[in-house]
Amino acid sequence: MKNIFKTICLIFLLTNFSVISVAAEEEKKLLSTDWSFKGYFGKFDRGSLQRGYQVYQEVCASCHSMKYLSYRNLSEKGGPEFSEEQAKAIASNFEVTDGPNDDGEMFTRPAKLSDKFVNPYLNDKEAIASNGGAYPPDMSVLVKARSGGADYVYSVLLGYEDPPSGIILDDGVYYNKYMYGNAIKMPNPLSDGLVEYNDGTEATEEQMAKDVVTFLAWSAEPHLEARHKIGFKAIIYLIILALLAYLSMKRVWSRVEPKV
Ligand code: HEC
Repeated sequence: MKNIFKTICLIFLLTNFSVISVAAEEEKKLLSTDWSFKGYFGKFDRGSLQRGYQVYQEVCASCHSMKYLSYRNLSEKGGPEFSEEQAKAIASNFEVTDGPNDDGEMFTRPAKLSDKFVNPYLNDKEAIASNGGAYPPDMSVLVKARSGGADYVYSVLLGYEDPPSGIILDDGVYYNKYMYGNAIKMPNPLSDGLVEYNDGTEATEEQMAKDVVTFLAWSAEPHLEARHKIGFKAIIYLIILALLAYLSMKRVWSRVEPKV
């Protein structure tokens, strides 16, 4: 009886370990690139942020909202840092509903810096109905909301493949190496040369994925640079404090005769 119990425990442990190691293995295999914002001194690459906004706007914005961003954020410090004029010009390309006016009617007007990013759909139900039953998640904080973060989103964008033989997917479902369950209801959004960058950068799939993910990493953590700066200052302060504490300790104890 005891032996049977032991064997069951052992099998249970072994299967758990293999599940854990498979999960760790999966995590390891995510694609990555040289993110400018990683590490203690990481900063967002402004060029990449501006190109990333362009990719979001020209490619992703027809399905994915970014409801926590306002057009003014595009010109704020620590972000893509478009000039205020540029941000105003960007905003004015969109139409928002405002009102009611003096006659009690709603009206549309060009967006202003203070307006939130325009949502591609009227509501979530329309978003789901337009995408074969799948909800295109809001992308404002997506990088923070998924384990694997920037690497995960980057991997999903570059993870489209033909399904392995034997796997048949329904219409409107695509094989993706990095999506949970390997099936995604988003058609591959990127292809080489899809956008035209005006700074001369070549718009390869990898480049667009890197730029848009950099933009999404900023939108998920707009104060990253300020946080890194404060962290750096705190460490310098602590080093100076430690040095002073050491010197005063030396001084105080210098008056005590060492016992031999
Ligand atoms: C044609 C509409 C459409 C476009 C364009 C589009 N997406 Fe999607 N996206 C979707 C839908 C729908 C889903 C949900 C898929 C699912 O749940 O199977 C999705 C899911 C995703 C996911 C997976 C999120 C998760 O739940 O883990 C990521 C990441 C993503 N999109 C990023 C992007 C980026 C970046 C772009 C622009 C380069 C983009 N998408 C363009 C419709 C779109």
